[in-house]
Amino acid sequence: MTSDVQSEALAQARAAYDAVKAKGLKLNMQRGQPADADFDLSNGLLTALGETDTHLDGLDLRNYPGGVAGLPSARAMFGAYLDLKPENVIVWNNASLELQCYVLTFALLHGPRGGQPWAGQTPKMIVTTPGYDRHFLLLQTLGFELLTVDMQPDGPDVDAIERLAAADAGVKGVLFVPTYSNPGGETISADKARRLAGVKAAAPDFTIFADDAYRAHHLFPDAAGQDTPVNFVTLARDAGYPDRAFVFASTSKITFAGAGLGFVGSSEDNIRWLSKFLNAQSIGPNKVEQARHVKFLQAYPGGLEGLMNDHAALIAPKFRAVDEVLRQELGDSGEFATWTSPRGGYFISLDTAAPVASRVVQLADEAGVSLTPAGATYPGGQDPHDRNIRLAPTRPPVEEVYEAMRAVATCVRLATEEYRAAQR
Ligand SMILES: Cc1ncc(COP(=O)(O)O)c(C=O)c1O
Repeated sequence: MTSDVQSEALAQARAAYDAVKAKGLKLNMQRGQPADADFDLSNGLLTALGETDTHLDGLDLRNYPGGVAGLPSARAMFGAYLDLKPENVIVWNNASLELQCYVLTFALLHGPRGGQPWAGQTPKMIVTTPGYDRHFLLLQTLGFELLTVDMQPDGPDVDAIERLAAADAGVKGVLFVPTYSNPGGETISADKARRLAGVKAAAPDFTIFADDAYRAHHLFPDAAGQDTPVNFVTLARDAGYPDRAFVFASTSKITFAGAGLGFVGSSEDNIRWLSKFLNAQSIGPNKVEQARHVKFLQAYPGGLEGLMNDHAALIAPKFRAVDEVLRQELGDSGEFATWTSPRGGYFISLDTAAPVASRVVQLADEAGVSLTPAGATYPGGQDPHDRNIRLAPTRPPVEEVYEAMRAVATCVRLATEEYRAAQR
């Protein structure tokens, strides 16, 4: 391109941005939250128990007894969800992140089953990037040093994990999202999952922490359009490491966010290990919440799968909107950006071609479109390439997703042209 053409491209990009700014938008594409229409699908939860529903599974929901592992019918339901038997599952309270924190904390204080306490061994944890900021925050808050590996289209870079795990007994495990990952929507392939389950680690207690938050969150109900979740508990057992894997999930993106149930699956020995510590801190989880989830989901047309299909009908058009606008506005060549096209989950990951992610987020903010802060998908909020932006299309109505993405594309163009002009 001649410099005249380049200056013209910058001037056009600036004019397009000024026009967007003049609209006075007030849009939000950063919240990984369900929309009100998603929540409305589960309003039946609020009346799922009547005055006479005081008992379930032979237990009085109003009283303490029942133990720490959860109501038997909830363990059966969410065990099936994780492709596990009820005895391999603890159904706890409202958040899977809390369970992740407990398991990690107990491993630090007491050591995982058969292992030494991790605290004092300068423990390191492998995470994938781009990844989920709350994983980074949790691990760093607990004192883990983070080692990063790339998230690839078929799951984490297992070659890198093999190298890191083999090299250092301080590397205690990996925490990542195996299905429809946050933010890119990638799902680990069966082959990689098998390799990871059997990884030869220097630490005898190397552990896989699979945060399977989006295990059933397909966007396209027909099987051909879905990624296949894996079962790390059985894969690890088959690889000769029966206690190597913990799998976490919750109903936060199924019924109500932060007002549902978190649960964890693992080997029976690990379930006993975890129960021992949970029992020291609590007489048991909230059985009333568990009972109403069981009743509500059993009664929902098509059960939990029927509910997920209804979510898909609401969410898929928003993902299509993001892809459609980006293609239209930025083209397919990668000249300005590339982005993922997930078949499920809650997020899309966009990489700018130039190192301008933070500038894009700033421009968008000044034009009234709130995006996830640049860098959030890397530990410490520092994207070494300044390229990655997490897009969260689920919360706004679809028309707002279109409007917001047109604005985002305009910001990507302007930031790129500014960068190119500065390079000349
Ligand atoms: C990967 C992942 N894990 C966990 C959570 C939070 O789950 P919970 O509400 O069960 O703690 C989220 C929410 O965005 C998420 O994206």
